[in-house]
Amino acid sequence: MSKKPLILGIESSCDETAASLITENNEGFPIILSNIISSQEEIHREFGGVVPELAARSHMEKIDWIVKKAIDEGGRKIEEIDAVASTAGPGLIVCLSVGLSFGKALSTAINKPFIAVNHLEGHALSPKLNYKIKYPYLLLLISGGHSQYLSVEGLGQYKRLGTTIDDALGEAFDKTAKLLGVEFPGGPQIEILASKGNSKKYKLPRPIFNKGGCNLSFAGLKTAILKISKSIKTKQEKFDLAASFQKTILEILNKKTKIAFEEFEKKKKLKEKNFVIAGGVAANKAIRSLLIDLCKRNNYQSIFPPIELCGDNAAMIAMVGLEKFKKKQYDNLDHPAKPRWPLDKDAAFLKGAGVKL
Ligand code: KG4
Ligand code: ZN
Repeated sequence: MSKKPLILGIESSCDETAASLITENNEGFPIILSNIISSQEEIHREFGGVVPELAARSHMEKIDWIVKKAIDEGGRKIEEIDAVASTAGPGLIVCLSVGLSFGKALSTAINKPFIAVNHLEGHALSPKLNYKIKYPYLLLLISGGHSQYLSVEGLGQYKRLGTTIDDALGEAFDKTAKLLGVEFPGGPQIEILASKGNSKKYKLPRPIFNKGGCNLSFAGLKTAILKISKSIKTKQEKFDLAASFQKTILEILNKKTKIAFEEFEKKKKLKEKNFVIAGGVAANKAIRSLLIDLCKRNNYQSIFPPIELCGDNAAMIAMVGLEKFKKKQYDNLDHPAKPRWPLDKDAAFLKGAGVKL
């Protein structure tokens, strides 16, 4: 029996320092040996968002022991690692540089290949850690930094069907939360407030609802909420605004996902139709039930990776590393950190696409 590849993944593109060790079984299905994630939420809370310099400093303080912990918890020795895969972009350059430099140095020290990973490709392949899913599949990535519909067609092969042209969906949740006086990251709190409110109370705009294919836009929503929030006096009005905001998001996702289904099916003979929903916002129960229902009605299988693999993590980076390692797609040590790195090189440049701010 041949030795199975052992891949170390490292992630530091934003405010999570993470490392993970993965391998595969005899059938070639991935096995997560360890998945260590250290979040910086506490550090950034008082600033209401991620402060790049503080984030980078925290990555530097933690990266050594996080990587060590991932190797120890994985029950392996450093010299058994076959390749080191680090996120090289997109993300905050000062943050990316920490995990990228660490990964390059470690691969040199153990004399094993180095693999530079696109963070978005990590999210795109994350369902492969838990499901035997075949290409192509449709992906909706909704997090604090990204909002995209992608056709995942193979390793390194992506077609962007739609993207936000301004704010990411998680960002819209967080900004709304801030306007309602909720601490960062407020997305999960909005869901709780919304459950107590009347979603019909406030009429909010739905930017590019009837145009732009399955592209998304949330900036106008934030401006409307800013105006209304100034006149809010009671707790109930706060709940009503949160509920109206969430309802508007559901209407937008309902409409845009239907368009994404049509776009995805174009020019393809599909044996099965799989729709993966990833990113931190995929934890929202109202969004989950909307998309599950929509999938049922359109003969799609809905797939939600487990919560710990939905947000930023290093197992998904190791997953891309594993696929690239098997194809001998190694990278040179001069591979740069790329703050902007869209998955679909042919897609038109849109401000909010492929960038994590
Ligand atoms: O993927 P993630 O963990 O980190 C990145 O941004 O990459 O996503 C975090 C985002 C935050 O904006 C957070 O407010 C949002 O996901 N989020 C939610 C919920 N849980 C997390 N938004 C709405 N409802 C939730 N339940
Ligand atoms: Zn992410």
